[in-house]
Amino acid sequence: MQRVLITGATGNVGLGMIKHLTRLQLPVRIVAGVRDVEKARQVFKDFPELEFVRFDFEQPATFKEALNSIDRVFLLRPPHIAKIKKYFTPLFVEMQNQQVNQVLFLSVQGAEKSKVIPHHKIEQSIKAFGFDYIFLRPGYFMQNLTTTLLHDIKQKQQIVLPAGHAKFNWIDVENIGEVAAILLHQFGDYKNSVYEITGYENEDFHTVSRIISDITNVPITFKNVNPLRFYRFKRRMGMPKGKVLVMMMLHFLPRFQSAPHISDFYEQLTNKAPTSLKTFVARERVHFTP
Ligand SMILES: NC(=O)c1ccc[n+]([C@@H]2O[C@H](COP(=O)([O-])OP(=O)(O)OC[C@H]3O[C@@H](n4cnc5c(N)ncnc54)[C@H](OP(=O)(O)O)[C@@H]3O)[C@@H](O)[C@H]2O)c1
Repeated sequence: MQRVLITGATGNVGLGMIKHLTRLQLPVRIVAGVRDVEKARQVFKDFPELEFVRFDFEQPATFKEALNSIDRVFLLRPPHIAKIKKYFTPLFVEMQNQQVNQVLFLSVQGAEKSKVIPHHKIEQSIKAFGFDYIFLRPGYFMQNLTTTLLHDIKQKQQIVLPAGHAKFNWIDVENIGEVAAILLHQFGDYKNSVYEITGYENEDFHTVSRIISDITNVPITFKNVNPLRFYRFKRRMGMPKGKVLVMMMLHFLPRFQSAPHISDFYEQLTNKAPTSLKTFVARERVHFTP
């Protein structure tokens, strides 16, 4: 049986993927590579089949043991890790040493267009090492509404971003987890290719705020701020500098770009339409009420 190492197992996509790998009863051994094994055991207490191994991108000494007897890796870049050469090259060297040659990498839509974003550099590095790869490039996570943006929604009934009327492609992480599970299992059929995974809606934050308000009966408004004000505001709230800069770029730059490309890859693979924004908000409505 194939053994797959899942990095970022406790994160949005990792969790979704493990749920789907388990639900689909795929014949793979799942090894969750985590920084804190005891904490992860609690998170996954309903998944008795799961194996755990200590894995920390910032501790290369953990790589050897984590890659032992692994056939395939699901790789993500934790949002705070920007130094790609420093943290990813030693990992790829160890993969090469242990002949772990198959990588499913969670990238981002548009990674091919910008040489400066970390995902672009990781994709290039995976190719340069000669691994078989699948790059999965998702749109904008609906779950940003229930994680990074939730504090302002709950406390102030506001979404505050420098996004103007920029349109984002909204994709449910559940859909990404499902696709990642299938690709990981059928790696050979899809390898050495790039797949965009998007929802069917490109919407701006004005529309999304209206959708949340209509469904929850809580009046949520979108407040557009200039990037400098956003930076100061988030720093005053104690958000680390790197995270504020990433949020700023992620929401400001799309104002100058055309609307994202919409892909039907999710439907092709699963015969289902991806989650709509309305369905997502209705499903997660408990998060949005004060
Ligand atoms: N948000 C979006 O709209 C969007 C869109 C497209 C692509 N993406 C990309 O998706 C990726 C994030 O995926 P996600 O949202 O599933 O992740 P996430 O929820 O932010 O979770 C990060 C995961 O990485 C783990 N982690 C953090 N630091 C680590 C380290 N030093 N060593 C090992 N593991 C570490 C965390 O584990 P712990 O439990 O130990 O903290 C957690 O499991 C990013 O690369 C992002 O750019 C995001």
